[in-house]
Amino acid sequence: MLDRSFLWGGAIAANQSEGAYREDGRGLAVSDYLPSAPDRIFNIRTQLDETLYYPYRYAIDFYHRYPEDIALLAKMEIRCLRMSISWSRIYPNGDDAQPNEKGLAYYEAVFQELQKHGIEPIVTISHFDMPMHLLTCYGGWKNHRLIDFFETYCKTIFARYKHYVRYWMGFNEINHIQTMPFIAGGILPDEEHRLQDIYQASHHMFVANALAVKHCHKMIPHAKMGCMIACGGIYPNSSRPEDVFETYQLKRRTYFYADVMMQGVYPTYSKRIFTEHDVRLKIQDGELALLRRYPCDYLAFSYYRSTNHQAGISIYGNTGGIMGIKNPYLRTSKWGWQIDELGFRLVLNELYDRYRKPLLVAENGFGTRDEVSEDGQIHDYERMDYLRCHVKMLMEARKDGVDVFGYTWWGIIDIVSAGTGEMEKRYGFIHVDADNEGKGSYKRTLKDSFYLYRDIIRSDGSCIDM
Ligand code: BG6
Repeated sequence: MLDRSFLWGGAIAANQSEGAYREDGRGLAVSDYLPSAPDRIFNIRTQLDETLYYPYRYAIDFYHRYPEDIALLAKMEIRCLRMSISWSRIYPNGDDAQPNEKGLAYYEAVFQELQKHGIEPIVTISHFDMPMHLLTCYGGWKNHRLIDFFETYCKTIFARYKHYVRYWMGFNEINHIQTMPFIAGGILPDEEHRLQDIYQASHHMFVANALAVKHCHKMIPHAKMGCMIACGGIYPNSSRPEDVFETYQLKRRTYFYADVMMQGVYPTYSKRIFTEHDVRLKIQDGELALLRRYPCDYLAFSYYRSTNHQAGISIYGNTGGIMGIKNPYLRTSKWGWQIDELGFRLVLNELYDRYRKPLLVAENGFGTRDEVSEDGQIHDYERMDYLRCHVKMLMEARKDGVDVFGYTWWGIIDIVSAGTGEMEKRYGFIHVDADNEGKGSYKRTLKDSFYLYRDIIRSDGSCIDM
């Protein structure tokens, strides 16, 4: 018997797909300030340089092409689409007194289109995106006032979309605020007080998230709110106890976020982190009680790769998670991401053992260059291989007893990369004819992987064993 309830689907984000950055009253968002330049995520300029190309402003034009794109996704037979709402379409500045009706109407039309095709939306409220005005005028999430703005935004979208959306999540990969504070947390930390700023902003996001859970449950009783973290695998580089222990400490930097949002309390180990880094959190009355009372209903996570860690080695992180020492047993993508399907099964098991709440694989995918063959087709065998291996491990994890209710392939249609701003780093089962400078016809073509994923969905994953 096929399990029709498992949510096989795809994932995209507003800033990486929509474009139309100034249309229908949308305000400027932080991602509109990220040019196509390799160092862009770490060297943010709040002054625009008009000689540069800003890819998120145009992306793949999903804003106008969504009926065509959704029809293609329906042809793939996906059951859900994880997408995000652009905050600055709803509140152009973030602190506006009234929402922008045109922005609200846009997402309503998208949800109706999905409904028409029987595709369930899963919505991220803030995916690496927020109105730029909140950063320039308030300093982003470092400022306590952001909690109120986010709360208003959440209440507005819950009220408007309560008949369309059952699954919500507050912040995409909230733990990435540690390594990419601008895109994940909308802050530019002061280098001298970097960790103080990061943890204070995180605290504000935790409180905002708890309020979102509160309103979500009250306003849409059948809905669920998830917490979303990036969770790549990390192995000690050797059996040297120092490597093993420091690797565990590193994992806690990820778990910390889920611990607070899933368990409703600051973990005991955080005291030591705060003391050692001289972090003094400002916590207002009633905030800890709010966290305790409104934990998330499910845990969503992204998994792309794993890495090794050696004690004392400084770490570097990007969109795929921590990037440490190369593991000699694994194959590596063109962007240096190591492919590790067994690591995926391990992470699924570890997360379920730790939280005992339903899991959603909100992102898993393989970014690479695609060649259009002479026959006009895209034979993306490497991506197909990655998909097969990871779905196999997902099925194994389900047999291990892990309660996972959905799998949404990242970048189901080619979109702009969050880490590099390139179009060339493609994840999609649907090709979009656009290059790194936004040039191209934007024509959509189905890749070979499109048909494999459709077979996976049709057979509820079992075709993988054949
Ligand atoms: C995740 C993000 O970190 O990784 C996505 O949630 C992102 O927004 C994805 O696109 C893949 O990373 P990249 O840098 O290859 O686009």
